[in-house]
Amino acid sequence: MSLKPVAAVLPGLLLGAAAQQIGTAIPELHPRFPTYRCTVADGCVERQTSLVTDALTREFHAVDDPSISCSTRPFNEAICPDEVTCAQNCALEGIDYGGIGVMTRGNALTMRQYLFNGTGYDAVTPRVYLLAEDEENYEMMKLVNQELSFDVDISQLACGMNGALYLSEMFENGGKSDSNPAGAAYGTGYCDAQCFTDPTWANGLPNLNDSGICCNEMDIWEANSRSQVYTPHTCSGVGSFLCTGDECAREGVCDKSGCGFNPYRTGATGFYGLGGDFDVDTSRPFTVVTQFISDNESAEGALTEIKRLYVQDGRVIENVPATEGGEGPGTVTDEFCTDNGADDFLRLGGLKTMGESLQRGMVLIFSIWNSPGDFMEWLDSGEAGPCSDTEGDPVQIVRDRPDLSVTFSNIRIGEIGSTFDTESGAGALVEAEAGAATAEQSASQAGDLSLPTTAGVALIIGFYALFW
Ligand SMILES: *[C@@H]1O[C@H](CO)[C@@H](O)[C@H](O)[C@H]1NC(C)=O
Ligand SMILES: *[C@@H]1O[C@H](CO)[C@@H](O)[C@H](O)[C@H]1NC(C)=O
Ligand SMILES: *[C@@H]1O[C@H](CO)[C@@H](O)[C@H](O)[C@H]1NC(C)=O
Repeated sequence: MSLKPVAAVLPGLLLGAAAQQIGTAIPELHPRFPTYRCTVADGCVERQTSLVTDALTREFHAVDDPSISCSTRPFNEAICPDEVTCAQNCALEGIDYGGIGVMTRGNALTMRQYLFNGTGYDAVTPRVYLLAEDEENYEMMKLVNQELSFDVDISQLACGMNGALYLSEMFENGGKSDSNPAGAAYGTGYCDAQCFTDPTWANGLPNLNDSGICCNEMDIWEANSRSQVYTPHTCSGVGSFLCTGDECAREGVCDKSGCGFNPYRTGATGFYGLGGDFDVDTSRPFTVVTQFISDNESAEGALTEIKRLYVQDGRVIENVPATEGGEGPGTVTDEFCTDNGADDFLRLGGLKTMGESLQRGMVLIFSIWNSPGDFMEWLDSGEAGPCSDTEGDPVQIVRDRPDLSVTFSNIRIGEIGSTFDTESGAGALVEAEAGAATAEQSASQAGDLSLPTTAGVALIIGFYALFW
């Protein structure tokens, strides 16, 4: 990518402020991505939200010399000797979203892992955040006593891929400050429960002392067409915070493993997968509903349970039991986490801590990635899924499936039972006779509820609202 010379040579010095600068070579045009807020009484209302990619995906270069990068280590001594000078000397650019594999159409977001560059494929691995209507702040998700639904087409994601939709407790303004004037509008402030120490910038400030950047994380959806998991991860701190040394390690300030619910791992190997033999057929789009249940049916109550259900072909599909042969549907509770040895999750407060983070508000994140280090085996291989331990090798993925993508659409947030009886998208609840026949045939299968008519839909949703 060629950069035009930046217009202002040393705006930081001219302004006399300690500030990482905003570049002028590439305009930042946030892809429109409407989402919906729903209530049981009034249905869903569209919000004019948009997307922004992470700061470190961008050109981040010296203000007076675009050929000098500010996003790689080691920091250039002349440009980044200390936080103030570094922030004055570096500029963060806008980005062409098509060039990083991000496309929106209506309320759908498609992300690609690889793009053809004329001779071969570049891994673009996009990660984007949901911006509020003002495009200056992130849209904060407060989900206790609420549910979040989305439609997903994950059919193209093979073993080793991860198409993720998750939440991190980033700062609402991305850590915007005098030293970080770009803020959320340029995707600053990423954090998660892995407390990664490698980011070169943290909240828009240079990470000169190799701090880890930590925060509570709720992985609503990490998946490919063969396996999937939802996983809360707790941390000891509030908002986005830094760690050093042992604090950043596995026994430290965040729960790295999380307390995940993966149907395959419970023994339900026929529940989720490619083709009509599975309860959730990933060869076609479907809806994923995640409900955050509190102890007193209010948004201020303590989070006690994270429930999951699916909708496909107008059928609500309950989650599988938490153990093979157990009573269904399974959910994530502290008891489930105890039974599954999620010690760090519980040590750091379990669902109560996760709920407090969800009450303060978390940022919605979409990503697609694969993993040269472990081939994503924790997600889809061995006890976690049907993939072999070598299929997830990115070398093999790019050779066999370079065009793969994931599409998330129709993001809805609202009261329990308010987000998944819409007539649009993959989760549309069908009224047609054909739909009724299909539903009746499958009603006898364990884990399925039939939804033959609109009245039935209302009844069943009422059922969920009352008893879940
Ligand atoms: C295109 O992709 C190939 C394969 O990843 C890579 O080796 C090559 O350097 C890339 N070319 C350009 C111009 O970026
Ligand atoms: C590392 O740098 C950050 C930002 O300047 C600072 O807040 C933090 O206290 C530093 N950590 C250590 C261990 O010096
Ligand atoms: C629910 O519990 C919270 C925390 O204990 C409390 O502040 C709130 O008033 C309760 N709400 C209702 C409706 O009981």
